[in-house]
Amino acid sequence: MERFRNLISEERLRRSLVLFAGNSNPPLASSIGAHLGLPVEFPVDSFPDKESNVRLTSNIGKADVIVIQSTSYPQEKNIIDAQLIGDAAIRAGVKNTIVVVPYFGYARQDKKSQPKEPISASVIIRDLAMYFNRIVTVDLHSSSITTAFNGPWDELTALPILSNAIRQDVNKDNLVVSPDKGGTERAMEFTKLLRLKNTEPVTVYKRRDPSIKGVSKALGLMGEVRKKDCIIVDDMIDTAGTITNAARLLMKNGARSVRVVATHGLFSGDALDLIDNSPIDHIVIADTVPRSDKVLLNPKIKIVSVAPIIARAIRLNHARKPLSEDPTLYPET
Ligand code: R5P
Repeated sequence: MERFRNLISEERLRRSLVLFAGNSNPPLASSIGAHLGLPVEFPVDSFPDKESNVRLTSNIGKADVIVIQSTSYPQEKNIIDAQLIGDAAIRAGVKNTIVVVPYFGYARQDKKSQPKEPISASVIIRDLAMYFNRIVTVDLHSSSITTAFNGPWDELTALPILSNAIRQDVNKDNLVVSPDKGGTERAMEFTKLLRLKNTEPVTVYKRRDPSIKGVSKALGLMGEVRKKDCIIVDDMIDTAGTITNAARLLMKNGARSVRVVATHGLFSGDALDLIDNSPIDHIVIADTVPRSDKVLLNPKIKIVSVAPIIARAIRLNHARKPLSEDPTLYPET
């Protein structure tokens, strides 16, 4: 919090910036508030029939209003709750409404993979655009979806935080691996952040089975992994099929060890069992999605927080300063 003080006085900040959060991830929202030195109001309750009952009590007047809400499960409720808070703020006269979506659900449905499918990501963006004039996200599956929004969109990355979490045990035998072709750029970025000079990331050739939703196979490797300690980097772990298949393939090809870093840990279905029974040594994820007790207690999983970078982005936006020049958010690589 200390380094924010010089941007704007605390008293002025309390009057000009108000934080609300839906119920998708209260620990992260509270932690963002703590980093900013501001309270967070959670205004979503339920009517007896389970419809959301929203009422804002903070004094919002001419403030910038921030709504923090991941659109993870239950996706539709989380999306509509963010909209209801946005609507209440606009009806109270607020001009600047910003939605912070640490995990942006539906982002993987960013194009038609078969005829007669919707582009679901753009539907969700249009829904949010009715109530918010700025969007802040962390490690979108693909930044191409931002084009569906006609306003400023700040795409943050947890990669520097994830790289700091493993930096102390990285040596020349480490190699970064992308578990699919789409993640190659991310793997290159992570290689630079870890300062693994003269090392090119390896890419897994992954194929999805179009007839079974969520099932993929790791078919081959582009690069040599023999005697290497591999670090798979991905944007998200959902069923964990991608990372466990990749880990097995890496070990089959002579890798010495495999660990994983990923921003969003969804752990759907049997993901935790798959991970427990895989050669993956350990996993580092960020806290963009609420953590179940099973995840918190899993000895293979370590969680780091994106609260400092989100708080920093909110603070800079509020001070009308550019995010792109901030070394905390975008360190030089
Ligand atoms: C896919 O392109 C993504 O980057 C992730 O690799 C994928 O969504 C992970 O899903 P799962 O854990 O179900 O394999």
